[in-house]
Amino acid sequence: MSLDLMDLFSGEPFQSGIFPKTRYQGSKYKLTKWIADCLGHLDFETVLDAFSGTSSVAYMFKAMGKTVIANDKMHFNYQIAKAFIENNAITINEEDINFVLRKDPSYLYKNIISDHFEGIYYLHDEDIWLDMVTQNIHRMHNEYKRAIMFWALFQSCLSKRPYNLFHRNNLNVRTADVKRSFGNKATWDKPFEQHFLKFIKEANLAIFDNKKPNKAINSDISHIAYDEVNADLVYFDPPYVPVKGSLTMYMDFYHFLEGLANYDSWETKIDFNSKNKAMLKTKSPWEDRKFISQEFFKCISAFKNSKIAISYREDGIPSIDEITAFLQLMGKRVEVNYVNYKYALSKKTKVREVLITGV
Ligand SMILES: C[S@@+](CC[C@H](N)C(=O)[O-])C[C@H]1O[C@@H](n2cnc3c(N)ncnc32)[C@H](O)[C@@H]1O
Repeated sequence: MSLDLMDLFSGEPFQSGIFPKTRYQGSKYKLTKWIADCLGHLDFETVLDAFSGTSSVAYMFKAMGKTVIANDKMHFNYQIAKAFIENNAITINEEDINFVLRKDPSYLYKNIISDHFEGIYYLHDEDIWLDMVTQNIHRMHNEYKRAIMFWALFQSCLSKRPYNLFHRNNLNVRTADVKRSFGNKATWDKPFEQHFLKFIKEANLAIFDNKKPNKAINSDISHIAYDEVNADLVYFDPPYVPVKGSLTMYMDFYHFLEGLANYDSWETKIDFNSKNKAMLKTKSPWEDRKFISQEFFKCISAFKNSKIAISYREDGIPSIDEITAFLQLMGKRVEVNYVNYKYALSKKTKVREVLITGV
């Protein structure tokens, strides 16, 4: 996000930062300006980003001077929201970096990654580095420093992965001695430490104080105590369930980051029968064509007293028409805004992004 964009929102006495570019399935990073334009005329002070992911939209709301509550079911995304949304002031200094990057001879380190992920995602030396750094981050006392360090670690891990995902044990894509017509090999082979330090710098530049008591939550949206949240606007960006084609299964794609964020209990959650040592699966109605509509409408109706904004795509279940009709039944005035946008992760398909508002 550029400083210019931020300046649009800075009628307030705070200086917003620069939100780093990230790669995440379904991220709305490139759409934040458009979303802000669509919502700019609405009257709201407090906003819940119910499926916050990378926090890119939550950050945009924070830059607009709103009180932001960012929620995501996955713990690693919760850490991201703590770093950039809840955290208004804490940054990383040299002493913190030295603590995280140095082996402490008095500490007995575990080897979860080098023991269980040998040859799956990273080279052996890299697995050892990850085991040490992850545990050092967990040992940091300040929750916001921890969260920033985690974000830098997650970004480093994603940068060094083919397709930026953990859905396959495809380290060989990186190591195979083949002529490549496309190339991220230099990025994959760049040492973890270099990636990590670059991301720490970016994170420090992103942190700012909008003088509001922003909050990160780590909950399944269906378990949130609605009265507690009490937001004027609720923004929904749920996993997209297309009528045809493959679903985005967040736990399949990002289980490794979830493991880093839950290092001590990771071993109890690994499906040792899976080739890529994914996490044991729990079924979610949000990733199931049969149950999605029921869950979607149950979730929206729980926020009937709030204004509602939904990021969506054409060809989803439920359909845009069904969502519009449901919001109208709830007594909302509905608008459907369209934008043309190419997803970075699937360059061939041109899809139309939609923002549905019900006020
Ligand atoms: C489309 S992504 C959100 C992307 C986000 N707006 C961004 O710009 O990065 C959907 C998110 O929903 C989260 N999620 C999936 N099921 C959930 C649930 N039941 N409750 C809360 N979050 C959930 C996933 O972890 C994922 O991060």
